Amino acid sequence: MEMTWDPDQYLAFGDHRLRPALELLARIPLRAPARVVDLGCGTGTVTGYLRKRWPEARITGVDSSPEMLSTARRTEPSLQWRQEDLTAWAPEEPVELIYSNAALHWAEHHDLLFPRLVEHLKPGGALAVQMPRNFGAPSHTLMFRLAASGPWAARLDGLHRSAPVHEPGFYYDLLAPLSGRLDIWETEYLQVLTGENPVAEFTKGSWLKPMLDALEPPQRRAFEAEYRRLVLEAYPRRDDGRTVFPFKRLFMIAVL
Ligand SMILES: C[S@@+](CC[C@H](N)C(=O)[O-])C[C@H]1O[C@@H](n2cnc3c(N)ncnc32)[C@H](O)[C@@H]1O
Repeated sequence: MEMTWDPDQYLAFGDHRLRPALELLARIPLRAPARVVDLGCGTGTVTGYLRKRWPEARITGVDSSPEMLSTARRTEPSLQWRQEDLTAWAPEEPVELIYSNAALHWAEHHDLLFPRLVEHLKPGGALAVQMPRNFGAPSHTLMFRLAASGPWAARLDGLHRSAPVHEPGFYYDLLAPLSGRLDIWETEYLQVLTGENPVAEFTKGSWLKPMLDALEPPQRRAFEAEYRRLVLEAYPRRDDGRTVFPFKRLFMIAVL
């Protein structure tokens, strides 16, 4: 899917988006990888944490979005940044760590992509991945249903993919035969958000955005207003004025 990312909207929920990235990083059992690649590095915030953990490593961030990369270059000017499609990416030589937080769910054909990434690792290297697996939650199902049913259906056709991330068992079966050690787990975060309609704002940083971008202003306003109404109904504010947004994420670390 072609998409223009908005770094500010994405970073507005930085804490909730950073936590899984750091939990993935904390569990990577590598002492001193020489070459580290951050696939789908986005604004480079997480890449900066990779640098903090392994200051001696040669770290490269790969992303297809020029907007995200321009923020990344400003944030971490000393790292290498490459504008590339991660599905076609290949390193010049095998690397010790391929890290990818919240990016591979944008790519299709995981049955081919994941084994190909493992092929780019040195012996003893690791593939560490986190992907949201919240596509069955109302925040997403309401959006997809609305997209398919209103006057905008033809314009939005093709933008609402069904669950791109498989069940955890799929990744186990795919990666276990290729790895010496496989750590795989899922966490449901109860994200406590503030604001008037924070779930709508949250999805605006990811799945809602390409749909809004595809519509002309009058339809865009109508679509967003209807989505905001539905989502507010599904995620009502609690007595303390906050909103709880349960969010599932899948993690895996395959060590060769
Ligand atoms: C949700 S952001 C995550 C960014 C970063 N990893 C983080 O944790 O903050 C997803 C990123 O994946 C990138 N992306 C999506 N599909 C891609 C592709 N096919 N090739 C390269 N980057 C891609 C987007 O441009 C975006 O920056």
